[in-house]
Amino acid sequence: MTRTSVVTGSASGIGKATKELLESRGERVIGVDLHDADIEVDLTTAAGRVALVEEVRRLSGGVVDAVYAVAGLALPVPATVAVNYFGAVATLAGLRPFLLASAAPRAVVVSSMAALHPVDDELVALLTAGDEAAAIERAEVLAKEPETVGSLIYSSSKRALSRWVRREAPAADWAGASIPLNAVGPGIIVTPMTAEMISTEEKTAALLELVPMPLNGVAQPGSVAGLLAWLGSAENTHLCGQVIYVDGGSDAVIRGDSVW
Ligand SMILES: NC(=O)c1ccc[n+]([C@@H]2O[C@H](COP(=O)([O-])OP(=O)(O)OC[C@H]3O[C@@H](n4cnc5c(N)ncnc54)[C@H](O)[C@@H]3O)[C@@H](O)[C@H]2O)c1
Repeated sequence: MTRTSVVTGSASGIGKATKELLESRGERVIGVDLHDADIEVDLTTAAGRVALVEEVRRLSGGVVDAVYAVAGLALPVPATVAVNYFGAVATLAGLRPFLLASAAPRAVVVSSMAALHPVDDELVALLTAGDEAAAIERAEVLAKEPETVGSLIYSSSKRALSRWVRREAPAADWAGASIPLNAVGPGIIVTPMTAEMISTEEKTAALLELVPMPLNGVAQPGSVAGLLAWLGSAENTHLCGQVIYVDGGSDAVIRGDSVW
């Protein structure tokens, strides 16, 4: 039977590549984005998150086989926290009832290798506590210095998101409901998000110092889409709470022997 998936961030970059790959395999994809999507909503807002669930219910008939939470921002602004963490969690939690109606439900989140970079501990704690108002307030403080601590907004949002996946995946809502929940952690991927950061050889070399990619250097979105599509497929029966780095080696270089 044709699988129906929901992909957020479907208008660009990794989300777009994922939607196109799934469609090329004959799946039905409901794309979600701010623009150029089947469902156009702003995942930073409560109203957008409610509308997402209502529209997915309407378009899917209440049955969804896989959810791919891809939408995100990499700017040193509070909205990054709202979409990367709370938007992703709201997408997964809001669409979970529709996954329960599938014979082979799957859920996948796009985190980042930036989760391995330094973070703001206070912001990560507020995100993990689910306190959106306080987290936005903390991000507003960090955003006042975009050249220094501003970058911690992105890494903190992704650290907290990876942690959410680790904690939730083995629990009753996900593993207990036979829904594999996992994440991917991309390295530097060539998308509109990174276009400015890798616009010259010098900038690319500087970024690769922070995100070492000894295997094949910066990657195309299709490299991430292929992994996402497998994690969201019926073939994936037992991966639970994994954050799989598709990063050309950054995780292996940065964390080395400290994880197994
Ligand atoms: N490009 C990279 O190097 C890289 C690396 C690691 C992780 N990621 C993550 O991959 C995901 C996709 O990034 P990308 O590189 O494809 O970026 P992109 O900018 O090409 O695409 C992101 C999409 O998310 C959508 N989006 C942003 N805010 C939204 C909101 N409030 N509501 C609904 N949709 C919204 C955008 O409109 C856009 O279409 C993000 O979560 C990003 O953090 C990207």
